[in-house]
Amino acid sequence: MQNHVTRRKFLGSTTVAGAGLAVGLPQITRGAEAAAKPAALGGSKAFSGSFPGWPVVEAAEEEAVLATLRSKHWYRGSGKNVARFEDAYQQLTGARHALATASGTAALTTALGALHVGPGDEVITTPYTFVATYNVIVLNYALPIFVDVDPESFQIDADKIEAAITPQTKALLPVHIAGSPADLDKILAIGQRHKLPVIEDACQAHLGEWRGRKVGTLGLAGCFSFQASKNLNSGEGGAVLTNDDQFADACYHFHTQGQAKKVTGASFSYAGTRGSNLRLCEFQGGLLLAQMTRVVAQTQRRTENAQYLTQLLREIPGITPAKLYPGTTRSAYHLYMFRYDPERFARLPRAKFLAALGKEGVGASGGYGPMHRGAYVANLAQDPHFLKVYGEKRMQTWLEQTRNCPQNDRVCEQAVWFTQNMLLGPRTDMDQIAEAIRKIQKYAAELV
Ligand SMILES: Cc1ncc(COP(=O)(O)O)c(C=O)c1O
Repeated sequence: MQNHVTRRKFLGSTTVAGAGLAVGLPQITRGAEAAAKPAALGGSKAFSGSFPGWPVVEAAEEEAVLATLRSKHWYRGSGKNVARFEDAYQQLTGARHALATASGTAALTTALGALHVGPGDEVITTPYTFVATYNVIVLNYALPIFVDVDPESFQIDADKIEAAITPQTKALLPVHIAGSPADLDKILAIGQRHKLPVIEDACQAHLGEWRGRKVGTLGLAGCFSFQASKNLNSGEGGAVLTNDDQFADACYHFHTQGQAKKVTGASFSYAGTRGSNLRLCEFQGGLLLAQMTRVVAQTQRRTENAQYLTQLLREIPGITPAKLYPGTTRSAYHLYMFRYDPERFARLPRAKFLAALGKEGVGASGGYGPMHRGAYVANLAQDPHFLKVYGEKRMQTWLEQTRNCPQNDRVCEQAVWFTQNMLLGPRTDMDQIAEAIRKIQKYAAELV
């Protein structure tokens, strides 16, 4: 570390007089060059510290878990944590109703269940998402209809949605990928024009905002995940937000075996509808209440760091940070995403770029693979139940359409992701991330 700092200080002081030093002090210059080299070529790491750990655990979490344990009220029917969390999340987001669920998948399952999505229905979504978005549609034996992405934003291309609507379309399921809002003005207008409900997959988008309103509160419903990696975390967990009283009731029923009426006030009675057990438990409710004490400050820190990082990365040819649509008043930055163009890095393949970044102490990933071409969709086209419902011809054209998402191909090839915790440290961490990339670019030909 001492050595690293000294060399960096030295480098700083040599920028003006560098030429003279190169002649007079060849030994020292060689040392400086080594420091400026990527770590993958024997230089020192651009980032030698460590990014903040996740999750944050303090006394509040310990107390919440222990208090629940000792109370012996571990399920929402007898405890108060889950209901308290729902009230708090509702207030934080400005939604009329919040329903806690066992996971983000359970939240989406609840929303689609309350909408009666079923065999023969089509649900329009994006191919660039976590597989859960695919699964919640497919498990209802509905067809996911994939609309290609806007490569600038990584989001569903809202201009292509209307062409995908058919009489079978039951809902629009945009995803706010990375926590940045999809183009909600366009998507909501399409929903209205075609009388189609919009269910926002906001599983990555806690406290993201569109024109000053929290995402997840603009469509008929918004679904959130509190899985361990998420910006609000209880190991597993989720929530449905909605402003619609009837839909809130339907979701509440669905998530607890078709029982009970929450919004309209009647106590534990069968609604006479189908459902499942998708409830959050009291330990998770307690954990979420504790985690929520920090979520606003953490979101603010991520925003500041991400905005600064974007300024730095925009200066690097071949690095294109994901665009935010003009209606975005806040991205949740669950992920920080950019596109990497190997042509500007001496054709250094992305895998080698990622490996070199890792050596700099800046762990990054290439994100989602092209699921719209993979085994998942190929198997679905052969699935006996899908063939029974849709027929061979439809499944074949579906497969062809699904594979025809060229922008998603491109995004899957070029994406680079940083995780949200990397945005929680000091601003100097962002300088060092950018420095790592600049170094790799400078020495890209050697790294190839
Ligand atoms: C976009 C998206 N949708 C849905 C989910 C599912 O959430 P969970 O893992 O809580 O079931 C996730 C979780 O990673 C997600 O990122």
